[in-house]
Amino acid sequence: MSGSPVALVTGAARGIGAATVHALCEQGYRVVAVDSCAGDGPGRPAGVDYPLATSDDLEAVAAAHPGRVDVVVADVRDRAALGAAATSAVERHGHLDAVVAAAAVIAGGTSLWDAPEEHLRAQWDVDVRGVWNTAAACVPHLLAGPDPSRGRFVAVASAAGDRGLFHLAAYNVAKHAVVGLVKGLAADLVATGVTAVAVSPGSTRTDMLDATAALYDLDDAEALASAQLLRRLLAPEEVAATIAFCCSREGAVLNGSVVSADGGFGG
Ligand SMILES: NC(=O)c1ccc[n+]([C@@H]2O[C@H](COP(=O)([O-])OP(=O)(O)OC[C@H]3O[C@@H](n4cnc5c(N)ncnc54)[C@H](O)[C@@H]3O)[C@@H](O)[C@H]2O)c1
Repeated sequence: MSGSPVALVTGAARGIGAATVHALCEQGYRVVAVDSCAGDGPGRPAGVDYPLATSDDLEAVAAAHPGRVDVVVADVRDRAALGAAATSAVERHGHLDAVVAAAAVIAGGTSLWDAPEEHLRAQWDVDVRGVWNTAAACVPHLLAGPDPSRGRFVAVASAAGDRGLFHLAAYNVAKHAVVGLVKGLAADLVATGVTAVAVSPGSTRTDMLDATAALYDLDDAEALASAQLLRRLLAPEEVAATIAFCCSREGAVLNGSVVSADGGFGG
């Protein structure tokens, strides 16, 4: 493989996605950092009531690694935009080696039977179709690279990917679907060398967790630490370190699996 490895990360402007950009840059990657940067503007999906990241957030992530991060403002619901981002990464750097699908939104706070349909639509469109679009746009480039055995697709699922969390019905649906998507993708990638894995974080100190706490009428997300055996919230950097391992050559062994990075969630 020529030059530095190249990764594309969605949801890169803050939280776990931003921490992943930093972790990969520290390991020598060049990174294409993708985010919708919708803030609280019209690009935010209906049903999502907390601000998403801004273009200032995305630029700040890139500024920490001069010359190593290309920023792309794109919505993961827009498959053509993701295709253009992946193609331009390959044209610019010659290959694409790792893809991390971290972009997602959360909405909830009611029982399933009281939830407005827009909660399901927003989380299906961003959290599931967004990961599907990211895989569809990027996996062909992983397969066409100089060393497909280095190709890694990592989707960020959740502790909600294998259990039902209270008053988060549509989020539970979406994250279970992400797990199914990764397992199906790994099956389709049989013997190619390219691998697919899901990483399921527990409660991690990010803006999304603050939004989750608000759905539960909690003043402080710290209260969610009691759901983890560590009895503390995770830092985004801790989850990013697991994601970066999944992107590594040694991460091949995790193909087709769901890696829990949750500090012992549910204990
Ligand atoms: N924080 C937690 O406790 C936790 C727990 C389990 C799983 N997760 C998962 O980790 C991932 C990252 O979450 P986070 O906590 O860092 O959240 P976050 O809200 O801090 O970051 C999510 C990023 O995705 C971006 N984004 C949202 N919709 C987008 C779209 N349509 N297109 C492109 N970008 C979009 C946002 O602008 C933001 O920068 C998500 O998949 C989330 O479901 C988080």
